[in-house]
Amino acid sequence: MLVENAARAELNMSFAEDRIIRKSAEEIEKMRRSGQIVRQVLNHLKAMVAVGVTTMDLEKGAEKLIAELGAAPAFKGYYGYPCVLCTSINEEIVHGIPSEKRTLKTGDIVSIDCGVVSDGYYGDAAVTVPVGETIKPELKKLLEVTEASLYKGIEQVKIGNTVGHVGSAIQKHVEANGFSVVRDFVGHGIGTKLHEAPQIPNFGKKGQGAELTEGMVLAIEPMVNSGGPEARVLGDKWTAVTVDGSYSAHFEHCVAVTRQGPMILTQ
Ligand code: MF3
Ligand code: CO
Repeated sequence: MLVENAARAELNMSFAEDRIIRKSAEEIEKMRRSGQIVRQVLNHLKAMVAVGVTTMDLEKGAEKLIAELGAAPAFKGYYGYPCVLCTSINEEIVHGIPSEKRTLKTGDIVSIDCGVVSDGYYGDAAVTVPVGETIKPELKKLLEVTEASLYKGIEQVKIGNTVGHVGSAIQKHVEANGFSVVRDFVGHGIGTKLHEAPQIPNFGKKGQGAELTEGMVLAIEPMVNSGGPEARVLGDKWTAVTVDGSYSAHFEHCVAVTRQGPMILTQ
């Protein structure tokens, strides 16, 4: 989600409520079901990704499968967003809009972000996948580091830690590998709304931000650029791209805070 800040407040669009809503074990089970549906859709789309496929082909595949699985798409209609998926190619960071004019080519990377609602509870996850047989070693590393940084963040999802523990772990791993973390978009709480409090920046320091307590569910979603961290939004009002034209990757999971540690709901 787009970070909540003064600029966002001026647009009079508030994504997240300020109250953190903790979930019962029963609610977390429902969220796991939503998470599993999202994962099934992403797995199906990963298998569809190939040279010559358009991002609209992915959109259509997702729309059909979500319906078959008895869920509803979470993104379509959200603040006017037109599609079920976000498909972001190469220098696009997030919120790329599927199009029959966008054909995947050898060596591209495509981030696929999908959200659903099932039985009143949301699931949200993203992966970035290579297109074709060969991608540049630098891009392979970008995908590996971004996914690994997500797991570094998830490891910090423990009662008594803070949102800052998560962001700090992600940022450290990304920067140690020479890449940068996008600041303008952040992860978020999730539940009966797609975006709930708190915001989960992919940077920060241990001890900063909200304390993690039992029953919180976090959508953790590092967005990592191969160049500088700066982002700008295109004229379509959605697609976020890197300012320097460098490549960008995105991985996302929903994770519950439990007494047993992090519980990944989207796998
Ligand atoms: N996973 C993204 C997010 O949480 C996708 C949102 S797309 C939107 O921000 F259209 F729903 F905004
Ligand atoms: Co999200």
